[in-house]
Amino acid sequence: MKFPRLGSLPNLTPPAAVAGFILFFALGGTAFVELQRSNFRQPIAFNHAKHVENGVSCTDCHTGVETQAQATLPAIDTCLNCHQTALTSSAEEAKIRSAAAAGKELAWVQVTQLAPHVFFSHRRHVSVAHLACTECHGPIEKSTAPPQRPWRVLTMNACIGCHQQHGVNADCNDCHR
Ligand code: HEC
Ligand code: HEC
Ligand code: HEC
Ligand code: HEC
Ligand code: HEC
Repeated sequence: MKFPRLGSLPNLTPPAAVAGFILFFALGGTAFVELQRSNFRQPIAFNHAKHVENGVSCTDCHTGVETQAQATLPAIDTCLNCHQTALTSSAEEAKIRSAAAAGKELAWVQVTQLAPHVFFSHRRHVSVAHLACTECHGPIEKSTAPPQRPWRVLTMNACIGCHQQHGVNADCNDCHR
């Protein structure tokens, strides 16, 4: 995109110029968020399948999932419980120890994320309703690399559809707080 030099800006009246700038930044902001979402790399090419096959359970790493709203993504200390010394010759695995040596966290990107106006609690769905992770997230236990997009997108209709099946209230205020 070419930016006009200051001297060549058209002679806009102040309100029109202000509106123009607001529109410019609003559109730029949206494009930037889209770019971040579809074009990122997780700090390590984490392999769910390998860990699940080795008997590591979902709650070992997503420690909030039975007791809190947020499932949570694991802190590096969780990985170090098993990876303090090398289990494999994988270069990805070595990144855990070099991050730890540098005193850094692993900055995982959350991919499945609702708009902030929607309230969702894992505890309610996992511990009270006893739903399987796969109902909402798809077959994660088989995935061998981090996804760029959610395995399954939960739209409002998907939430309400399941609530109707289970005879659960679907008042606007239950989800929008
Ligand atoms: C009823 C649907 C549903 C079920 C069942 C469910 N999740 Fe989720 N999960 C969601 C939604 C919706 C989000 C996005 C939440 C948000 O934006 O706050 C999410 C987000 C996550 C996240 C990333 C962000 C975070 O910290 O919450 C992880 C990790 C996760 N879920 C793991 C699990 C695991 C593990 C299970 C099974 C023990 C599970 N989920 C069961 C719907 C579900
Ligand atoms: C409860 C033990 C345990 C925890 C906790 C754990 N791992 Fe592992 N990890 C393993 C085992 C077992 C293997 C497989 C070793 C093999 O293939 O022989 C493995 C293998 C790996 C590998 C190399 C294999 C591959 O191809 O991907 C990476 C990378 C890895 N883990 C990353 C992580 C990260 C990142 C964390 C923290 C989010 C973590 N692990 C937490 C037990 C664990
Ligand atoms: C050894 C640690 C570990 C185990 C065990 C583990 N996860 Fe994860 N999980 C992670 C890490 C690290 C990420 C972020 C990187 C990625 O997406 O692969 C993640 C991401 C996720 C996400 C995506 C969150 C998002 O932002 O969209 C879901 C859903 C999830 N895990 C569910 C599960 C389920 C279900 C199980 C059990 C079958 C499980 N996990 C077992 C470490 C683990
Ligand atoms: C079971 C939960 C649930 C109920 C009940 C519910 N919603 Fe939603 N609503 C959602 C989810 C999830 C989204 C999507 C959020 C996202 O995109 O991350 C949403 C999105 C919306 C949006 C924004 C649309 C958009 O494009 O982002 C509006 C407006 C809305 N809901 C209104 C309502 C109204 C009005 C009612 C009552 C008639 C209602 N909702 C009931 C879960 C619910
Ligand atoms: C696979 C089925 C299923 C899906 C998908 C699902 N839910 Fe639920 N949800 C339930 C069940 C069952 C309950 C009732 C739990 C109980 O007994 O308390 C519930 C309860 C709730 C409650 C508490 C109900 C109340 O009246 O206060 C909220 C809030 C909620 N869900 C939000 C959501 C949102 C938001 C989504 C989508 C992002 C969603 N749910 C997706 C099955 C589901």
